[in-house]
Amino acid sequence: MKIGILTSGGDCPGLNAVIRGAVLKGIAVHGHEFVGFLDGWRGVVEADTIDIPRTMVRGIAKQGGTILGTSRTNPFENNGGPEVIKANMERLGIDALIAIGGEGTLAAAKRLTDAGLKIVGVPKTVDNDLDATDYTFGFDTAVEIATEAIDRLRTTGESHHRCMIAEVMGRHVGWIALHAGMASGAHAILIPEQKASMEQIAEWVVSARDRGRAPLVVVAEGFVPDGQETPHSERGLDTFGRPRLGGISERLAPELEAMTGIETRATVLGHIQRGGVPTAFDRVLATRLGMAAIDSVVEGRWGTMVSLNGTDIVHVGFDAALGNLKTVPKSRYDEAAVLFG
Ligand code: F6P
Repeated sequence: MKIGILTSGGDCPGLNAVIRGAVLKGIAVHGHEFVGFLDGWRGVVEADTIDIPRTMVRGIAKQGGTILGTSRTNPFENNGGPEVIKANMERLGIDALIAIGGEGTLAAAKRLTDAGLKIVGVPKTVDNDLDATDYTFGFDTAVEIATEAIDRLRTTGESHHRCMIAEVMGRHVGWIALHAGMASGAHAILIPEQKASMEQIAEWVVSARDRGRAPLVVVAEGFVPDGQETPHSERGLDTFGRPRLGGISERLAPELEAMTGIETRATVLGHIQRGGVPTAFDRVLATRLGMAAIDSVVEGRWGTMVSLNGTDIVHVGFDAALGNLKTVPKSRYDEAAVLFG
């Protein structure tokens, strides 16, 4: 078989490990051939490809980013659509596609599969917000990077007796904030799933200061402050019409400073969380998912994605994967909140 691979949507550490796992297993076990589509769905729509021989995936499991490039191109726009993609695949002699991506990518893959294309999915996102998998690769690395950065904020905060606010990614879920906040011993963690009033946040900050600590607040970019219906967004919409988030910490800092009298600084960690070398956990998960995607292709499981269930890799339908966001349960937040303040 000749298999096309694409990476689409926001990048994350581990994408290359998926590509390597799929290509090595595909070649070694089944004698498949591989073609990479460049820059996600753009490459699929424009038939922009490169061959992926075995030598090309040598040593790439530890490389961040994606050797294929990515984009947030919507395959139904930009002169795309199922007929164009079908014709491109036929012309290139490609039998099936492995689409590695998050919610937007998998939703597009589902529509294309419904239109008769042969596609299997591999879920990725630093946000860890896909419901049908216990963890997505990229998340562990993002948490590791955020935790290290927050530890650094802590030492400068302690020196100056300041309150430090660290803003992490996560879109509409608080997984990165919860894990990095717990790991770094934050005095408050603010996530989209839970409301916290400014008075409550100020109380946690003052209580930490009164014990002689430099207060540390970890806030998820999607946190919705009291009195607001939607998260802070001042950067317009992405190509799928979703608001670009970021900047809530810069709004909270002056408000908290005014309420507490404690000098307060905000740091937005941003795309640093998506860069660099994946953790060993993410490399292993990504490699296993890549290899399992080959099984999906061989077994003709079109319209499904591979996913992590406990320690097993399983196959689930796109429908199940796209039904709901995997949000932080209240019990997990309450567990962390015992140590706030
Ligand atoms: O979905 C991953 C993510 O990093 C989110 O956490 C963040 O809101 C968004 O992508 C940023 O997107 P972009 O890379 O397009 O700025």
